Amino acid sequence: MSIKVNEQEKVFHLQTPDSSYIFRVYGKSRLLHLYYGKKINDHAHLEDSLRWFGAGGASIDAEFAHLGSKSVSFDILPQEYGFFGSPDLRKPAFHAQYADGSRITCPVYEGYRITPSKPRLEGLPSVYTENDSECDTLEIFMKDEVTGLRLTYLYSVFNDRDVITRTVIAHNEGKQNIDIKAIMSLMIDFKDDDFDLIHLEGNWARERHVERVPLSRMGANVYSRRGLSAHDHSPFLALARKNADEEHGDVYGFSFVYSGNFEAGVESDRYNQARVYMGINSFDFNWRLEPGQSFTAPEAVAVFSSKGLGGMSRTFHKLYKSRLCRGKFRDKVERPVLINNWEGTRFAFTEEKILDMAKIAKRVGVELFVLDDGWFGKRDEADSSLGDWYPHKEKLPDGVAGLAKKINDLGLDFGLWFEPEMVSPDSDLYRAHPDWALHVEGRGMSQGRNQYVLDLTRKEVQDYIVKFMTENLESAPIVYVKWDYNRHLTEVGSASVPPERQAEVSHRYMLGLYSVLERLRARFPDILFEGCSGGGGRFDAGMLYYFDQYWTSDMTDVVERQFIQEGTSMVMPAITMGSHVSICPNVHIKRVSPLRARGYCAMCGQFGYELDITKCSEEELDEIAEQIVFYKSIREIIHSGEMYRVRSPKGRDGAAWEYISENGKSVAFAVFNILAYPSNYPRRLRMTALDPDARYRLRGTDEVYDGAMLMYSGLAIQPMDDFDGQMFIFDKE
Ligand code: DGJ
Repeated sequence: MSIKVNEQEKVFHLQTPDSSYIFRVYGKSRLLHLYYGKKINDHAHLEDSLRWFGAGGASIDAEFAHLGSKSVSFDILPQEYGFFGSPDLRKPAFHAQYADGSRITCPVYEGYRITPSKPRLEGLPSVYTENDSECDTLEIFMKDEVTGLRLTYLYSVFNDRDVITRTVIAHNEGKQNIDIKAIMSLMIDFKDDDFDLIHLEGNWARERHVERVPLSRMGANVYSRRGLSAHDHSPFLALARKNADEEHGDVYGFSFVYSGNFEAGVESDRYNQARVYMGINSFDFNWRLEPGQSFTAPEAVAVFSSKGLGGMSRTFHKLYKSRLCRGKFRDKVERPVLINNWEGTRFAFTEEKILDMAKIAKRVGVELFVLDDGWFGKRDEADSSLGDWYPHKEKLPDGVAGLAKKINDLGLDFGLWFEPEMVSPDSDLYRAHPDWALHVEGRGMSQGRNQYVLDLTRKEVQDYIVKFMTENLESAPIVYVKWDYNRHLTEVGSASVPPERQAEVSHRYMLGLYSVLERLRARFPDILFEGCSGGGGRFDAGMLYYFDQYWTSDMTDVVERQFIQEGTSMVMPAITMGSHVSICPNVHIKRVSPLRARGYCAMCGQFGYELDITKCSEEELDEIAEQIVFYKSIREIIHSGEMYRVRSPKGRDGAAWEYISENGKSVAFAVFNILAYPSNYPRRLRMTALDPDARYRLRGTDEVYDGAMLMYSGLAIQPMDDFDGQMFIFDKE
């Protein structure tokens, strides 16, 4: 049992293998947070620090007099969940307006329930379990007597992972409407703020760069107001103790299983105590709860690691690849090596060109051909036809089915690109249903990449997407779908939603999208779905519930990719990271790098090619053929096992990533260089997490290495040229 309750003292102690999370009922009915961190045995004396003398101007709550102070305030005490309207004046986790105009919420504890396993959240993505013994769920019931608002806090505590998932359900048991203005999924009060904050910032083509900053009284906040989780910030943040590094020290990681507007941050209060929060962005959010209605906040996942950032990432990787990803591809490390024509042809292709590419791709060992944007309507540029999902007559004379058959006849599987959530102003769909695009009557409609966003709050739009996707996917042997999404939400509004509910539209959009994706996944369980959003925007935990893998970035340059893949790996496992080799000079950044380095970097994710293979020289084709054979021989190591970030690319040296297979018998060590040093010599790079008593043979050679030596002295790396890379494979003897 991972949840212990001291009935007499009303203390809840949630325990994972290495962490404890403790809170209690105080006074008559409040909940105070006592501890989150490395596992402890007993809660005794955790409250010593709550005896406060001299709270200055802080408001005092009489209920806490028994703590031995005249000056105990909500504003000082660590809360389990904060409300607007109490003397706790830090950022509230919950803020609502009631029918009489009051914004005060003051719920009291009513009881609890513990159940084995973990509930799925209706209409929302969430981590799941496969049997009851994996975790227990604690529900805490709170009720505001004045308004009839009931809040249920859910904590699912894993027995064999350092994971606690959280969410909050609001239910209106009163007689009046309740307008929820903010409802965080997670809030944790720490007793100090002696942390560094780690988050992932980015933009198109430079997604998820790691930034580590000291936490200060100014606090910190990552967010999206763009209608999707977007490139700018990922719905993730970590608090690391100052001494924590990749493999040592205490780190708390928080990841939001949601793909829309979010906020996550830390407020450091006047007593230097950190409050962490994560939830739907309260900016432009209001959810009306009529009597009898409920609202479920999306899930937040908290991971504790006493083994640094690497330990945190490996916990996220294992959890997300086995208990968030679903379906037949979940455990399949042998996914097809694909080629995608986008970078090779853009919109300018013919069927003949595609077949020429496919023939050569087949010859070098590619398994799946993916036809990207431009195959439908009259789309020859990014300015028309989204919504008209029927074959472009000139480009595909025999339709999608005809091309798919010809590709199959060459011995390749066939995959297809869609951007289902969008509509072009120049499209039959828009001409027939102008009201189906998100808009506000009487206001202009901004275009992004010459397109509008469909109003997924509308059931008829959801049904339309399911219908055209179903028709297309049934019309041809399509085994893979790339689901793209290339703009943000503007002029957010929907005529299908009443005026008082307009601030629900962004969240209703996400609920509509999740419903569409759920229906399509159920209908096409054998199709491999890859998500994409202008490269790697919206690559979040919510999307991984529906997409087997995700296009990590349009940037495929080997140097830029090291930063992108390093940041992505903070939370996402390699098996989900679409990662392709493209040509040189790189189309976006003009850098020239060795093909082998581009290959090794792409092999640290779901491997493929993104180029016009008909333009490759015979030498390049031979090298590509060798890369594919090599990748197939090592993908089990990369995707089944554990990843260690041995060296960051932030410096003149490049990244070094180590992957240890699930059975511990094989190790892949990818080492990159950024800028060569003059007068260089072989430098030693210490590997990690090997068996010090084992001997490891370098695959393809007779060289045998002592495990302890590889870890404590290191592997000698021969000097490399600019932007080069190597991959070493070791097998335990
Ligand atoms: C953006 C994606 O990131 C690219 O890979 C490509 O699919 C284009 N969209 C097509 O428009």
